[in-house]
Amino acid sequence: AIERTFSILKPDATRRNLTGKINAVFEAAGLRIVAQKRIHMTRAQAEAFYGVHKERGFFNDLVTFMTSGPVVVQVLEGENAVAKHREVMGATNPANAAEGTVRKLFAESIEANSVHGSDSLENAAIEIAYFFAGTEIVG
Ligand code: CMP
Repeated sequence: AIERTFSILKPDATRRNLTGKINAVFEAAGLRIVAQKRIHMTRAQAEAFYGVHKERGFFNDLVTFMTSGPVVVQVLEGENAVAKHREVMGATNPANAAEGTVRKLFAESIEANSVHGSDSLENAAIEIAYFFAGTEIVG
């Protein structure tokens, strides 16, 4: 089925001017960018967005990293978009990421891993609504 998923190009990607190269990987995989904006997340936004991880040891560093520079938040649309996006992103830890994936190609570390993607269709809807109004998504 045609799905929509939520994606973030993280501060390590914007800092190295990689947004176009990463978008090219997504588009080559059949994902269509139906919404996109560059923002600088506030600490409150990042803490709320990553709320499920707040008991994890890496939470504070993660929030600091995600607010360390601009990010590009996106809505991607396509056949089986949630799983397809996760496949092209590669494993969370770039050391475990398959050849040709965004994280294998570009990520610096498990924290500075260039991209975020929703892990389920249900979370995709929640994450999209967190950053985008319906009128900003143009399919
Ligand atoms: P993301 O998909 O954005 O969701 C949570 C993020 O936490 C994850 O990508 C990683 O970039 C980051 N992170 C930092 N350290 C760890 C860790 N030890 N295990 C899992 N995720 C981590």
